[in-house]
Amino acid sequence: MPLVNSREMFRKAYEGGYAIGAFNVNNMEIVQAITEAGKLENAPLILQVSAGARKYAKHVYLMKLIEAAVEDTDLPIVVHLDHGADFDICKSCIDGGFTSVMIDGSHHDFETNIALTRRVVEYAHERNVTVEGELGRLAGIEDAVNVSAEDAAFTDPDQVVEFVERTGVDSLAIAIGTSHGAFKFKGTPRLRFDILEEVSRRLPAFPIVLHGASSVIPEYVDMVNAYGGNMPGAQGVPEDMLRQAARSAVCKINIDSDLRLTFTGTLRKYLAEHPEHFDPRQYLTPVRDALREMVRHKIVNVLGCNGKA
Ligand code: G3H
Ligand code: 13P
Ligand code: ZN
Repeated sequence: MPLVNSREMFRKAYEGGYAIGAFNVNNMEIVQAITEAGKLENAPLILQVSAGARKYAKHVYLMKLIEAAVEDTDLPIVVHLDHGADFDICKSCIDGGFTSVMIDGSHHDFETNIALTRRVVEYAHERNVTVEGELGRLAGIEDAVNVSAEDAAFTDPDQVVEFVERTGVDSLAIAIGTSHGAFKFKGTPRLRFDILEEVSRRLPAFPIVLHGASSVIPEYVDMVNAYGGNMPGAQGVPEDMLRQAARSAVCKINIDSDLRLTFTGTLRKYLAEHPEHFDPRQYLTPVRDALREMVRHKIVNVLGCNGKA
């Protein structure tokens, strides 16, 4: 099966009351772990690539790794640009074989966001590529840009219909209280499900995207901290809230921090317990195994997309 765009995947997810995991990829072990998990659970997948990932690994390497995963697994896989900041990066990814892009105009004013998003949609749709837009601003860190909690803003449901109609986007990322990174809440986690409900009431059968949706798995935070790391107070979105979102209009749930934590915790533990090892294949094997099991857990217990490929 060739790479696919997100249209059919989201239509089925919306109707089926589940969500697709959008996992950030940066190297071979991460691509393999996610796609092995997808294969074991027969789950559709979105592999997303940030500007930082393209800088770290190069577009062509990530593209070829993902193509290899498609050949190896025969799963429906979307290759998606995460947080495209401008038209040029979206165009470069579309020209370079991505099947979906996000244009993140959320830091611009409403009219500028619409104009930018519309321009990307026109270019993308002519090439059968789907587009995610964003309204509202999440707190946290993306590509080394730190959005403070004061600068974050919930999505205004009054804007969503006009935004979708005037831009032609295929899905919409909204801000309901999640944030990027491993420190999402200072106290009790709280998400504005009322905003999600109002947005989905106004946009019937339209796929919604949740960024900043790692649960910051406590087991791996503890592992990082137990083996020389220092992440006190790390906290994510509780899994029951993510399950609730996955059953609603949310069709795409973005997960990166949980991959990073699982990777780092497992690596720190392994190296501490095997100080004599220096072959990367020795220490990256348990890392890849842990990533695969973590992703399987998300697919089955959080997203509900097992058996949906
Ligand atoms: O939303 C941000 C993702 O976690 C990607 O992070 O831009 O550091 O690769 P990155
Ligand atoms: P997390 O930091 O919660 O994993 O969010 C990732 C994300 O939204 C990527 O776009
Ligand atoms: Zn994001």
